[in-house]
Amino acid sequence: MQEKKTFYITTPIYYPSGNMHVGHTYTTVAADTMTRFKRLTGYDTYFLTGTDEHGQKIEKKALEAGVTPIQYVDKIVAETKELWKLMDIEYDDFIRTTEDRHMKIVQKIFRQFYDQGDIYKAEYEGMYCTPCESFWTSTQLVEKDGVKVCPDCGRPCQPMKEESYFFRMSKYQDWMIEYIESHPEFIQPAARANEMINNFLKPGLQDLCVSRTSVKWGVPVDFDPKHTVYVWIDALSNYITALGYGTDHDELFRKYWPADVHLVGKEIVRFHTIYWPIMLHALGLPLPKQVFGHGWLLFGTDKMSKSKGNIVYPGPIVERYGVDALRYYLMREMPFGADGNYTNESFLTRTNADLANDLGNLVSRTVAMIEKYFDGVMPAWDPAGFVAEEDKPLQDHCAQLPALVEAQMDKLQFSQALTEIWKVIGECNKYIDLTQPWILGKDPEKKARLTDVLLNLAECVRFVAVLIGPFMPKTPARIFEQLGLTDDSLKTWESLDCFGRLPDGIKVHKGDALFPRIDIKKDLEILSGGKAESAPAPKKEEKKPEAKKAEQKAEEAQPAGEITIDDFAKIQLRTAKVVACEKVQKSDKLLRFTLDLGNGETRTVFSGIAKAYTEPEKLVGRTLILLSNLKPRKMMGELSQGMLLSALDEGTGTLRLLTVDQADDVAPGSEVG
Ligand code: ME8
Ligand code: MG
Repeated sequence: MQEKKTFYITTPIYYPSGNMHVGHTYTTVAADTMTRFKRLTGYDTYFLTGTDEHGQKIEKKALEAGVTPIQYVDKIVAETKELWKLMDIEYDDFIRTTEDRHMKIVQKIFRQFYDQGDIYKAEYEGMYCTPCESFWTSTQLVEKDGVKVCPDCGRPCQPMKEESYFFRMSKYQDWMIEYIESHPEFIQPAARANEMINNFLKPGLQDLCVSRTSVKWGVPVDFDPKHTVYVWIDALSNYITALGYGTDHDELFRKYWPADVHLVGKEIVRFHTIYWPIMLHALGLPLPKQVFGHGWLLFGTDKMSKSKGNIVYPGPIVERYGVDALRYYLMREMPFGADGNYTNESFLTRTNADLANDLGNLVSRTVAMIEKYFDGVMPAWDPAGFVAEEDKPLQDHCAQLPALVEAQMDKLQFSQALTEIWKVIGECNKYIDLTQPWILGKDPEKKARLTDVLLNLAECVRFVAVLIGPFMPKTPARIFEQLGLTDDSLKTWESLDCFGRLPDGIKVHKGDALFPRIDIKKDLEILSGGKAESAPAPKKEEKKPEAKKAEQKAEEAQPAGEITIDDFAKIQLRTAKVVACEKVQKSDKLLRFTLDLGNGETRTVFSGIAKAYTEPEKLVGRTLILLSNLKPRKMMGELSQGMLLSALDEGTGTLRLLTVDQADDVAPGSEVG
């Protein structure tokens, strides 16, 4: 027998800094759905997920909670596994970066990079205050009686070298550009490839600092243990350490690598399409075939995120509406790649329209009519194979459905795949209206026609039940139960090779409604804990009447965290030109800015970004954005008159000041808004 084709898919390994929410659930459900689809269509699949447990953020969270880091993450990992069970996620492996099997190999990989010259140690000369355990650059020291002393304690400092390991990313810049350009399928959606090339690669790839001496909660560099491996080097390696790469038991690695697709949110595409490929290339390994950067679930206009606290958890939704309704919604509501709003209205509206009405009604009407007109026993197909003219379009469409779904799934277009299935469901419901089986049922001479009609419907239901399985793992069994179909060989992908395999003589059973209709108004109140529903309206291709009503209602209410233009008007943002900028002697965080706001107005502002700008004098002449009507506050004995805006990259901790495009055209003090 020919060996099955393999399919290896991964999710990001999530930070267990807080509990997983519907955003993490989104990626994980997508990976699970894809795995199930590939398994259905004959692949040997491997699905990896896990947790990224090292780094300062977790260390800090544990400290706040008064437990050790491992105690902290153990609890969240256990809860995460429970959540995936609840969501019917069937992963093959769950890797934790604190596991021995992972850490050992990360050390080995790091050492190999070092041995072959991809990682080098760079040393910076500086001054060290031993009692304070603090490192100072010579410009930070203060002079006392002609001696340079520690700005904190005033004691003399000793010369000292601080060292870090750096990865020679720059060496691979041209190779990386060439690879991305010659492999258009590597980064999906394609627009993200352009973003990587134009924003990160073409401007010049810097060598990456890949060790920290300040972070203890991590993988120690084994040949230099005061250094900890940078979390992203640690985390990205999971995709191969989980397969046993670098061990004597690397069968999985040999079988499944390279991965078919890494699913990631768009904010971490950069790490997966620049640093990770370069690491793999340096190890002499093939690259993953694809990295797919999907969009964000938004809440209002914000990304749903642990750090913002604007979170929806799946638990209560699943408990009330079932896991399949939530999985369906996540995969259907927004195209994979685009952002979309999570709202309770859009969830309830979709569940009612697509599941209770379209699918639920089709199944219940079909089964009810077979009960009524055939005593619940499936009649037999016409022995001569005759097909009425008016049945051909439906039969042909249904027969093509598996190929239509597969074409969309091969592009990870989950929503489109479901749209294809729901087109057939819609066509079935129209077919019922057209053929009017309840009228045929009154006339004994029309029995043969009625047989055709109900068989066509029941066979379409069988196709639909097989094809929705990867998305909604619990629903097919409930449909097969109602159809009375027990033969497992008729529940497979292969059994959809032709229309008309449904056997006669099976006994249908009318069961409970697959998805009971929801009273949207009432449930919105329940879901929002008695308060009026507070999230914006759903996006929909076709609006059902109840969707329109829900939308009108949502437009009237103001979502939590959303502000009006009047609220925004309270904030005064102005451009400010840097006249002078220097480090504050007694602080390792603060820079002191002198800012020009035009018309002779200058202001002093302190900003906690010294670590991000080690050469503050270089900021002189730049035009920045100042929150100018913030209440002044005394800092370091002086009044700080406003706040400079900056952006924080959550992943790397990098801080960057906001500036003005083409600053020369804009006078200092100009209004921003
Ligand atoms: O980034 N919408 O972990 P993380 C859609 N540990 N997807 C979302 C989402 C949202 N609102 N919120 C989270 C990390 N996600 C690193 C990854 S991989 C080697 C290391 C999903 O806990 C999405 O997949 O911040 C996103 O990329 C991931 O969770 C981020 O999880
Ligand atoms: Mg994140």
